[in-house]
Amino acid sequence: MEAGKEKEGVQTQRQVLLFFVLLGIAQADFEPRHYSVAEEMESGSFVVNLLKDLGLEIGELAARGPRVISKGKKLNLQVDRQTGDMLLNEKMDREELCGHTEPCVLPFQVLLENPLQIFQAELQIRDINDNCPVFLDKEIILKISESIPPGTTFLIERAQDLDVGSNGLQNYTISPNFHFHLKLQDSPDGLLPQLVLDKALDREEQPEIRLTLTALDGGTPPKSGSAQVRIEVLDVNDHAPEFAKLLYEVQVPENSPIGFLVAIVSANDVDIGTNGQLSYTLFQASENIRKTFRINAESGELLLTQKLDFEAVQTYTVNIQATDGGGLSGSCVVFVQVMDLNDNPPELTMSTLLSHIPENLQDIVVAVFSVSDPDSGDNGRMVCFIQDDLPFFLKRSVENFYTLVSKEALDREERAEYNITITVTDLGSPRLKTEHTIRVLVSDVNDNAPTFTQTSYTLFVRENNSPGLHLGTVSATDRDAGTNAQVTYSLLPPRDPHLALASLVSIHADRGHLFALRALDFEALRAFEVRVGAADAGSPALSSEALVRVEVLDDNDHAPLVLYPPSVPEGRFPSHLVDVCGTGTLSQSYQYEVCLTGASGTNEFKYLKPILPNFLSQGADGVSETNASFRNSFEFS
Ligand SMILES: *[C@@H]1O[C@H](CO)[C@@H](O)[C@H](O)[C@H]1NC(C)=O
Ligand SMILES: *[C@@H]1O[C@H](CO)[C@@H](O)[C@H](O)[C@H]1NC(C)=O
Ligand SMILES: *[C@@H]1O[C@H](CO)[C@@H](O)[C@H](O)[C@H]1NC(C)=O
Repeated sequence: MEAGKEKEGVQTQRQVLLFFVLLGIAQADFEPRHYSVAEEMESGSFVVNLLKDLGLEIGELAARGPRVISKGKKLNLQVDRQTGDMLLNEKMDREELCGHTEPCVLPFQVLLENPLQIFQAELQIRDINDNCPVFLDKEIILKISESIPPGTTFLIERAQDLDVGSNGLQNYTISPNFHFHLKLQDSPDGLLPQLVLDKALDREEQPEIRLTLTALDGGTPPKSGSAQVRIEVLDVNDHAPEFAKLLYEVQVPENSPIGFLVAIVSANDVDIGTNGQLSYTLFQASENIRKTFRINAESGELLLTQKLDFEAVQTYTVNIQATDGGGLSGSCVVFVQVMDLNDNPPELTMSTLLSHIPENLQDIVVAVFSVSDPDSGDNGRMVCFIQDDLPFFLKRSVENFYTLVSKEALDREERAEYNITITVTDLGSPRLKTEHTIRVLVSDVNDNAPTFTQTSYTLFVRENNSPGLHLGTVSATDRDAGTNAQVTYSLLPPRDPHLALASLVSIHADRGHLFALRALDFEALRAFEVRVGAADAGSPALSSEALVRVEVLDDNDHAPLVLYPPSVPEGRFPSHLVDVCGTGTLSQSYQYEVCLTGASGTNEFKYLKPILPNFLSQGADGVSETNASFRNSFEFS
């Protein structure tokens, strides 16, 4: 009975044990044994001692044939049956087994036989820092405009680190620079690196910036990986063109040909592309400057489009603008000085000119004139002179005025006309000159008295001459001109007051012909003297005198009948006249002296003698040689 009870008791114990074993299995199911090992441990590395862990005796474990079973054979573990050590059979890479899953726990079972016993277990593979942070792109390119304001942030590609936890990516650094700092932003995916612009970029100063971005993990020691960040600065038209010089000063000779290169201006724009492409134009140019200059928009060459004239414009101020493709502009000034050439001859302007100057006077201002030359410097300096063999000189007065003055009293009778050439030359090279000839006539002054050809004359006349007989001629000349030389003859009062001169002779006032007024009688008067005067018509008149002595020659004493007056009617002679002499006028201009003889009705022509000097040529005795022809032209009754 007790045995039964014992049997019953043992059975119950077994059942309880089984229960507990089953319970133990069940418990093992729910609470697996936890082991851990670092990744990358060498094959054969120790994981755990199963004897100790499972509470088995040495030998028991070996007898029960322990086996490790893992799903998918991920774990490669072996158990040393003698020692009970569970060892790694190969290296394990946590990242390969679990990726980013953390913790990396791989479940497995330890199976014992006789009796069958299964222990649930799991092996945690601990991360070690065996991976560096890695950037997928070794070069990160950012294109940033230089106009972007400071404070702007730029996301950049992040690095990756296969390790997890503190061995994963923890930090980024950027190489020291003047423009950016790094800002890190947390995100569900990890740290996001961002570049923050601290200081504005300037393409013209630094067109490209290279930075080194380093990613750090939290391992001990930390591992790092880096990438180059290349920042290309994009151009903005932030620079206006700038001229090399703000003021260009040039000198251009006047009369330079059209197309002459006056200057080349040059501006620079540090921007690139169209922002730096320049075009030159005339700027704020007056009409006159537009007419005179042209600028080549591309080359900046300033050219002449018309000739310069120093006398018209001496300087030009040409403003030139350079504009870039973005519309920014800069300007400069070309100051053009026109250089004078001696291209203008001097000019003479006559203000006053006497064409006639009186003789005998000194210091007469003949002409007043001014000279000018629009050129400048020596080209416009002048000298002025006349021929040096003339009795005139040039006197300089104010400014460029000159007077032409007579040096001495002039004598018209010596020289009545002067041609004075005034020569003006400038001192330029070549010298240019202007000549001006004036003609000056010396006007007459009555400074010469008439002069008789002889101081005394002796005339002979045969007695019983016919009344009106031409006794002879006196002649005086006057060197003056015009009325000052017009001589009038007259008889002056005789020295002998008893001489009845007025009845003896007469004188032709213009011609100086002396006539007998009556027949002379040798027996009564053998000779007499007459004073003749010659006076000119000047004012006052000048005169001179000569003495004429008339000697009467003896003849027979038959006195002819003398009739008076001597004037005979025109072209006809009265038939009653016998032996008559007289002067007459045949038509207006023919004057004559005629003598006829014979009884009334039988008139015979004796002689006819013309008086007008230019009427007929006269013989030595002053008598016409053409009596016969005259005879035919008269009618006698
Ligand atoms: C990251 O690195 C910088 C520079 O070495 C350091 O100043 C900063 O404290 C670090 N940040 C973290 C979170 O470790
Ligand atoms: C002065 O010039 C005029 C005109 O040319 C000329 O007829 C005249 O003969 C000249 N007189 C003298 C004195 O040279
Ligand atoms: C004209 O008459 C005069 C006076 O009789 C005389 O002397 C002279 O010879 C005559 N002339 C001629 C040409 O016949």
